[in-house]
Amino acid sequence: MKGIILAGGSGTRLYPMTQVVSKHLLPIYDKPLIYYPLSVLMLAGIQDILIISTPEDTPIYEKLFKNGCELGLHISYKVQEKPRGLAEAFILGEDFIGDDRVCLILGDNVFYGQDLTKILRKVISSDSSSVIFGYPVKDASAFGVVEFDKNRNVISIEEKPKEPKSNYAVPGLYFYDNSVVDIAKRILPSERGEIEITSINNYYLEHEQLKVELLGRGMAWLDTGTPQGMLKASEYVEAVQSRQGFYIACLEEIAWRRGFIDDAQLRLIGDKLKMTDYGKYILSLLDEEHK
Ligand code: TTP
Repeated sequence: MKGIILAGGSGTRLYPMTQVVSKHLLPIYDKPLIYYPLSVLMLAGIQDILIISTPEDTPIYEKLFKNGCELGLHISYKVQEKPRGLAEAFILGEDFIGDDRVCLILGDNVFYGQDLTKILRKVISSDSSSVIFGYPVKDASAFGVVEFDKNRNVISIEEKPKEPKSNYAVPGLYFYDNSVVDIAKRILPSERGEIEITSINNYYLEHEQLKVELLGRGMAWLDTGTPQGMLKASEYVEAVQSRQGFYIACLEEIAWRRGFIDDAQLRLIGDKLKMTDYGKYILSLLDEEHK
């Protein structure tokens, strides 16, 4: 399974913050936003990762993560010249995906919760052609909304419906089989000129191959597309980390717990960052009681 993080776009709702900086580099409390979607792919056990971003920002991500080997990953990069839509990820990622299945996560989506790893693993080990997620929200009319039957087969997906058919919003995390590349190539741009992910999902839906996995009440899915969303997400991360002492999206910890890196590599990174609480946390993991 390959993983793609889509971290381009224009971020207009965050202007002036994002006039010259990619929103995915802005902090959510103590780490750049892109750490959070990357942590989700790592929790899923995915080590081959493609980061897609704008011509200006891609070199910055390359500087940040290099080839990923410090985290036991293989990270590569691809430029999206213009924000032509989410589904373009599969066209730009064609060579990277090869013959594999692929998971796409949007660079501004933050997920956190106890069952996350379990759910991700379940999806990866299932033989479904395509899986989207459903997250219960109070007012679904602001989101893509998924309607499904008792076997979690999708019946419909509607974008920002006035009268939602369920209260389950569709977050920016999608799993597809290899045919997604060909499907993406055949999609025509929508009225707003984008190659829509909804068109991909509708294709699978028409072929009765689209499943939904539900995220329960213990799960946080946070939107970071607006200043208020960023602040709320930062407050959430700060509260969990200072109250429980567990870090959210500490990439080095996940890499170490998954066995992507060993104790020595964890210590090396921790030492470099030991002037910060983040670095101290990394080093504390090597204490016997955390193992
Ligand atoms: P959006 O939030 O839909 O768009 P945006 O990030 O450009 O922000 P704004 O609405 O404020 O202008 O994008 C969702 C995510 O997908 C975000 O992380 C950016 C990314 N994205 C791309 O990388 N390429 C694209 O073509 C699009 C449409 C989005």
